[in-house]
Amino acid sequence: MNRLRLGVNIDHVATIRNARGGRHPDPVRAAHMAAAAGADGITAHLREDRRHISDRDMERLANEITLPLNFEMAATEEMVSIALRHRPHAACIVPEKREERTTEGGLDVAGQFASLKPLVGRLMDAGIRVSMFIEADPKQLDASKALGAPVIELHTGAYCDAEGEERDREFSRIKAAAAHAEAIGLECHAGHGLSYDTVKPVAAIPSIMELNIGHFLVGEAIFIGLDASIRHMRRLMDEARGS
Ligand code: PXP
Repeated sequence: MNRLRLGVNIDHVATIRNARGGRHPDPVRAAHMAAAAGADGITAHLREDRRHISDRDMERLANEITLPLNFEMAATEEMVSIALRHRPHAACIVPEKREERTTEGGLDVAGQFASLKPLVGRLMDAGIRVSMFIEADPKQLDASKALGAPVIELHTGAYCDAEGEERDREFSRIKAAAAHAEAIGLECHAGHGLSYDTVKPVAAIPSIMELNIGHFLVGEAIFIGLDASIRHMRRLMDEARGS
């Protein structure tokens, strides 16, 4: 089976740094460590309120890391101009509300089609691989395809938050959406809320090509270190994939 890529999201290294200001811990150093621990890419979300990653972090990540950089961004003019300046390997368009604690729910691509279309076109014309962060809903997959985005990332938050039968139901939706993505020719990624407990079933879905994981890895790093937390996640993904 094809190898599943791991994108390590380093936002929350910046969250800890920002709790005191200053420079420590440095998310760029975390990105280098993630590369050494087996990450295939680095993911960072420059939020409108700059609560974790800063503009300077984005600039340094774009200039200093060798792994592909995945820039998570809201669909705003400000973020498009930053993306066009840094030209990351990929841009993942996410919904953003100031008052939310994290990205709650997927982007309504079907509902915002007209405003998203030119924005996605500009990023793609600059050679940036665009993905849409959406719920596991066929309507949103079809709209992403119609938009011309080559990649979708399925929001796994509801699956990770649920328990018992509800989790099974959420998982079935992710599996069906991943199959739908493959059928209509979209590359499928997934992420949000994944942990050692929840990663394996998602990693075992063959048409999913990449997982983006952050909060759990940085949290676990407090106990076992960042290198060990990433290596263990990588191992679980490979086991699930049979590789
Ligand atoms: N993928 C996307 C599009 C996200 O917005 C986030 C959170 O920034 C993640 C993946 C990673 O989620 P978590 O930090 O919960 O692992």
